[in-house]
Amino acid sequence: MEMGAALTESAFPLNHQRLPRHVAVIMDGNGRWAQRRGYPRIRGHVAGVDSVRTVVRQARKLGISYLTLFAFSEENWQRPNLEVRALMALLSRYLDRELKEMQDNQIALRAIGDLKRLPGAVQQDLARTIEATADGAKMILTLALSYGGRTEIVQAVQALAADLLSGRLKPQEIDAALFRRYLYAPDLPDPDLLIRTSGEYRLSNFLLWQSPYTELYVTDTLWPDFKEDDFLKALAAYQERERRFGQTREQIAALNNTSSRH
Ligand code: FPP
Repeated sequence: MEMGAALTESAFPLNHQRLPRHVAVIMDGNGRWAQRRGYPRIRGHVAGVDSVRTVVRQARKLGISYLTLFAFSEENWQRPNLEVRALMALLSRYLDRELKEMQDNQIALRAIGDLKRLPGAVQQDLARTIEATADGAKMILTLALSYGGRTEIVQAVQALAADLLSGRLKPQEIDAALFRRYLYAPDLPDPDLLIRTSGEYRLSNFLLWQSPYTELYVTDTLWPDFKEDDFLKALAAYQERERRFGQTREQIAALNNTSSRH
């Protein structure tokens, strides 16, 4: 399906010049959604996949360049085996079913996390989809899988330490830009907006290095209930924020004036 159609945004009008470049999402509340209905938790994840599809389509339609979804955390390995297996199966099915739509809409799939912990079949599905969508130039969809922010940083430190020991790198060369090169996806910009569903106010080990100035948006809506309007509402809330990156309001106003003259 092509995603060129105009959006109905009546309830939450957006300024298309000021959309976030990179939106990250902590998709929480699948279990609660299911439990409230007396269903097994897995049905919540199945319903959550529909929200994934909705948000991916809408992000693409709006012209958001990077969308990163926290699909499976390193801590999630501790869940009951049946739930872990169901999540892995859902992921493989998602990759298989969405491939054509990703290609039609020039969406490139990426993955971050300790991917070697994933079952071999899922690793293969991922590698295949990443390769088959690599040309997608309109949006990068990144799935965080077996992902933990601290592990990402620790693995980066290990690789950096190895380069120091081998003499490829000198201590005085280390700065934030160089450190970033050791992270899972150095080319992705930091998220501008992080959406978390189901009402919890924490980062849960997501994108710790990448989020020093990310705007946080928390909604009580459970992930399977998170649809087009909820996404538009989050984007509208983002547009009302004043992002200062530690500078004064006057400095930011001066910067904006300068950049609008060029
Ligand atoms: C949190 O809900 C959600 C997850 C642990 C998994 C998220 C996965 C999906 C939305 C589906 C698979 C993803 C893709 C990309 C196909 P929870 O179970 O922690 O909810 P709870 O806090 O209410 O228990």
